[in-house]
Amino acid sequence: GKVAVLLGGRSSEREISLRSGAAVLAALRRKNVDAHAFDPAEQPMENLLKAGFKRAFIALHGRYGEDGSVQGALELMGLPYTGSGILASALAMDKWRTKMIWQAAAIDTPRYRLLQADSDFHDLADELGLPLIVKPAREGSTLGLSKVRCEQDFQAAYRTAAHYDSLVLAEQFIEGIELTAAILDNTPLPLVRIDIAEDLYDYQAKYFSNNTRYTCPSGLPEALTHQIQAMALRAHQVLGCSGWSRLDVILDQDNQPYFLEANTSPGMTDHSLVPMAANAIGISFDELVVHILSLSHE
Ligand code: DAL
Ligand code: MG
Repeated sequence: GKVAVLLGGRSSEREISLRSGAAVLAALRRKNVDAHAFDPAEQPMENLLKAGFKRAFIALHGRYGEDGSVQGALELMGLPYTGSGILASALAMDKWRTKMIWQAAAIDTPRYRLLQADSDFHDLADELGLPLIVKPAREGSTLGLSKVRCEQDFQAAYRTAAHYDSLVLAEQFIEGIELTAAILDNTPLPLVRIDIAEDLYDYQAKYFSNNTRYTCPSGLPEALTHQIQAMALRAHQVLGCSGWSRLDVILDQDNQPYFLEANTSPGMTDHSLVPMAANAIGISFDELVVHILSLSHE
């Protein structure tokens, strides 16, 4: 039947979603799927039914798309959709609550604290060490994220994060290797290792820099790789994720992995990491997209 590729939307990651969605749409068409773009920012969701869509591929990122809201609307309409359901989507969007669930499941995550406008910098620095990370709890693509080294940085960092979300999180900065672990159909894909030229793997480094180096498979020892992959699968499962997801991880200098967050609608742009991981085991971009579609929630 006719497939809607949901893209764009109203979140701050709209531009990235337009790129992910365009890539997904092109892949589905190459695979002879009757796929069409649908931007929920431009028309009401009930038009999906009027237009005769039978299924939705969610290529939306961030709020009103990756956070359970669109999933809920699709369930009410009875349209199957890709990826996680309402609960897991909502949980994974919220890094604060994700961390609490992971702690309960013995999955290591950097220490953290929820911030208020009047949070004391020195208490925070004592608790989390310096530098530390300040970020909105419910945002993607590292929008609103800062690395804080001193009290002056802290004020600006808080304001930047609070611009995106009323929930602002401070997090211990872990010095180490940045990795990502994709899960496809309850199977971990090869880890991607990310080496950045800049100080932070931020929005610029993610989507525009040619100085970010990706290595997949990661080149880490096999036993460590398997350990991280198994933890990633568990991190995906305890949140109740389904279909696919991407877990972001930092490996510290003692080879201890720390889980940062789960992404239930990972980027599918030409700079994106899940396609890279799939490619490393011979799954082409088009095959990946069709596989994700086949795992839709009924
Ligand atoms: N939030 C971006 C799209 C990602 O996780 O890939
Ligand atoms: Mg994210």
